[in-house]
Amino acid sequence: MKTEKRGFVIRVLVIVSVFAFVCRQGRAAQIHPGEIWLDSSGKPINAHGGGVMVHEQTYYWYGENKEGKTWLPESNKSWDGYRVDVTGVRCYSSKDLLTWKDEGLVLKAVPEDPAHDLHPSKVVERPKVAFNPRTEKFVMWMHIDSPDYKAAHAGVAVADSPTGPFAYIESVRPEGQDSRDQTMFVDDDGKAYRIYSSENNDTTYISLLSDDWLKHSGKFVRVFEKRRMEAQVVFKRGGKYYFLASGCTGWDPNPMRSAVADSIWGPWKELGNPCTGPNADKTFFGQSTFVFPVAGRTDALIFMGDRWNKSNLPDSRYLWLPIRFEGDRLKIDWKDSWDLSVFNSNLIVQ
Ligand code: GAL
Repeated sequence: MKTEKRGFVIRVLVIVSVFAFVCRQGRAAQIHPGEIWLDSSGKPINAHGGGVMVHEQTYYWYGENKEGKTWLPESNKSWDGYRVDVTGVRCYSSKDLLTWKDEGLVLKAVPEDPAHDLHPSKVVERPKVAFNPRTEKFVMWMHIDSPDYKAAHAGVAVADSPTGPFAYIESVRPEGQDSRDQTMFVDDDGKAYRIYSSENNDTTYISLLSDDWLKHSGKFVRVFEKRRMEAQVVFKRGGKYYFLASGCTGWDPNPMRSAVADSIWGPWKELGNPCTGPNADKTFFGQSTFVFPVAGRTDALIFMGDRWNKSNLPDSRYLWLPIRFEGDRLKIDWKDSWDLSVFNSNLIVQ
């Protein structure tokens, strides 16, 4: 090749590479609901049915590590209860909600003991973590089950550091009842609650936890009686309590539910499906899992959901969308991509 021509080719290659780099950076600086999200080492993020805890200016994302073969046990055939064997709960950390560092499995499966709640043959779902300032411990609650989902227990683990290791304590049937899909909510006064599907998924329970958050206190209410809800989320905004959930159709999507109350104990008023845009009637082909506030802004809340791929569970995706309010009513609008600038008017000026 003549020197001139070679110079031209090199210039074109440099321009193309710079353009590709800028595009990649641009994409990474956006949240793309439903696409594969990579961690800082380039691997797909693996934290399903999870939640985000904000602690000392860092976000920690905990979720089910879903890896290995997806299969359908004989006992679950009638309801498409696909599963992957339990491997543990994974944690990622981030300062900006866009770059996520893999902190590894913070709670690991226990393959050597078939009777253990964390044995690969069991079910470990919807882990949620919060920091208890009274005990200075990180507390994780999760749904523990037998492969056919008949045991229906709530499991608890504790750690000294947000990145674990979490020590598994036990699983219980709270208030003498079954407990499946679940979440945790910590109020401004430091009281913590577990919110979960009970009475065979018919009714949601809200239970106050003990001061160390490791036990159920015995104080609870039954809400949304016989409304068969799953994937519960509770958060607070402007002194009001908000609730999100799905209906009960396994891994398949259905319309999201929402509700508001002046007290965590209710009465709760249902507000209907807050989703708007394409496939809003199917929660954008997803299911709720958590809502958390963006640090450094007021009234900036992010909805977290899962888009399950039931026949290939590790390929399930994440749906994160900003929450918007019309008066007391919340709205979750579909967006192909977005970034934190949607909350720019909520910046806290120091
Ligand atoms: C969903 C639930 C998931 C998982 C699944 C099993 O409804 O929200 O966490 O338990 O059922 O089919």
